[in-house]
Amino acid sequence: MEFREVVRRRRMVRRYADRPVDPAVVDRALAHATHAPSAGFSQGWGFLVLDQPTEVEAFWAATTDPDDSPDDSDDAWLAGMRTAPVVIVPCSSRAAYLDRYAEPDKGWTDRDEARWPVPFWHLDTAMATLMILLTAVDEGLGACYFGIPPDHVGAVRERFGIPVAFDPIGAVTLGHRLPDAGVKGSAATRRRRDPAEVVHRGHWSSRVDLV
Ligand SMILES: Cc1cc2nc3c(=O)[nH]c(=O)nc-3n(C[C@H](O)[C@H](O)[C@H](O)COP(=O)(O)O)c2cc1C
Repeated sequence: MEFREVVRRRRMVRRYADRPVDPAVVDRALAHATHAPSAGFSQGWGFLVLDQPTEVEAFWAATTDPDDSPDDSDDAWLAGMRTAPVVIVPCSSRAAYLDRYAEPDKGWTDRDEARWPVPFWHLDTAMATLMILLTAVDEGLGACYFGIPPDHVGAVRERFGIPVAFDPIGAVTLGHRLPDAGVKGSAATRRRRDPAEVVHRGHWSSRVDLV
């Protein structure tokens, strides 16, 4: 598929067929993730891959409340998402960046976080995550990035042994897409902004920006 077509077709998929994906595709998605850029080539990321039914089930058990009402929208979202055969949890390591930038070619030996304009550890892991999302499209599959509720992150850490040096930045479902059924996400009710509305050439334009 042409790159521009991959980008155009990318969208979050929240409903999946209950059948496995080719492990080679998962491997390609992960290999592409490692080709993302990273500050100082720190590569302070790690990817927890859950591709066995018991593992995937354990992920959903750790990230959801058992007493959720079967009628609420969260439950409809979950019903579509939990049949995805693969869940990938991208994790970022702040320590990897502080260590890397304390090396002689960088020299930030004070490891002062004020030096960081934004948390590059999350930024780089997010870029790697986008590689996974784009690979899914290229392979004719669907994927969705979503946040793990903060009060469930501890359960995910504990169940899957994620070390304290790594923070899950969210999770990605991967699988064979099914048509939306009810749960469509924010893109169904909000329009994509046109480049003319968000691009500022030469100087930030004075017109009022959409917020
Ligand atoms: C940081 C971030 C957090 C998101 N969290 C969720 C989420 O928790 N659940 C979900 O279904 N989608 C989530 N999304 C997907 C967005 O709703 C989606 O990207 C947006 O509506 C645009 O739609 P599209 O990606 O299909 O083009 C998230 C996306 C990003 C980038």
